[in-house]
Amino acid sequence: MPETTAKSRVFVTRTLPGSGLDRLRAEFDLEVWAEPGLPPREALLAAAAKADGLLCLLSDRIDSELLRRAPRLRALSSCSVGLDHVDLAAATARRIPVGHTPGVLTDTTAELVISLLLAAARRVVEADRFVREGRWREWSPDLLLGRDLAGSTLGVIGLGAIGQAVAQRAGALGMRVLGWNRTPRLIDGLACVTLPELLAGSDFVSVHVALTPETRGLLDAAALARMRPGAVLVNVARGGIVDETALAEALARGRLAGAALDVFEHEPLPPSSPLLAAPNLVLTPHIGSASVRTRTRMADLAALNLRAGLRGERMPHCANPEVYES
Ligand code: DGY
Repeated sequence: MPETTAKSRVFVTRTLPGSGLDRLRAEFDLEVWAEPGLPPREALLAAAAKADGLLCLLSDRIDSELLRRAPRLRALSSCSVGLDHVDLAAATARRIPVGHTPGVLTDTTAELVISLLLAAARRVVEADRFVREGRWREWSPDLLLGRDLAGSTLGVIGLGAIGQAVAQRAGALGMRVLGWNRTPRLIDGLACVTLPELLAGSDFVSVHVALTPETRGLLDAAALARMRPGAVLVNVARGGIVDETALAEALARGRLAGAALDVFEHEPLPPSSPLLAAPNLVLTPHIGSASVRTRTRMADLAALNLRAGLRGERMPHCANPEVYES
């Protein structure tokens, strides 16, 4: 009798678009969480305990407890570029490669930033509500006046791929661009300044740093107070970077003219959030990368990362490449 080798077991926390999961299914023993919503914590822990590979989303908490309770785990892949939901140090200590999806979502996320800048500047959501509520009586010279992007200054906090893509698009719209990065960078068409200079010198500020212990609360009450009176803040990075209570207060007092947020400290946004009562605030439900093409590419890349990790090959995009060093 020929000897049969057991297939590696893979748990996927949500069905994904594209053909990546089919390719994984052809090679591994695949279990996909099929119930509506995320797997509850206990279900995730139970599935991880039996898995050799895990493909997760940014909403799954992959912490040291989960890793401790997953003794077989050899590869972890997240269908996201951000990895603040993963305890990377704990995975690295176990020499588990962690895959993520940079690059494929850069343009799509930058496009959302531009649409949020325009929506906040030109009060698009408020104007839509105005029409629907039957409040439009006449054309009026002072109806719903907003701000121009052209001729204004955009401050880009974080000059990674997405920050640079936003800066490039803002330049094409006639904006002057200031940038700040923890390690200063020389980028054409962009003046690199200190964070206080950026906050004081920008009419619009867009956040593009990863959420880490160093950037948590980076835009706290003191930083928001440094922004120009009447400035507009956009955040599509991670909610924990901005102090939401301080932002809601700055909007309520009219200190900031507006804001647009796609990400929140707690997602989905709880009904008790002070943000829901804040004026001049555009809210979207973490859709930075939400185009059909990009979500398919993210899923394909996440599947490729996991497959490589389980085969003992280098993942195409590994966030802790040190695990490959002998
Ligand atoms: C990511 O992949 O981290 C993004 O936040 C998804 O839009």
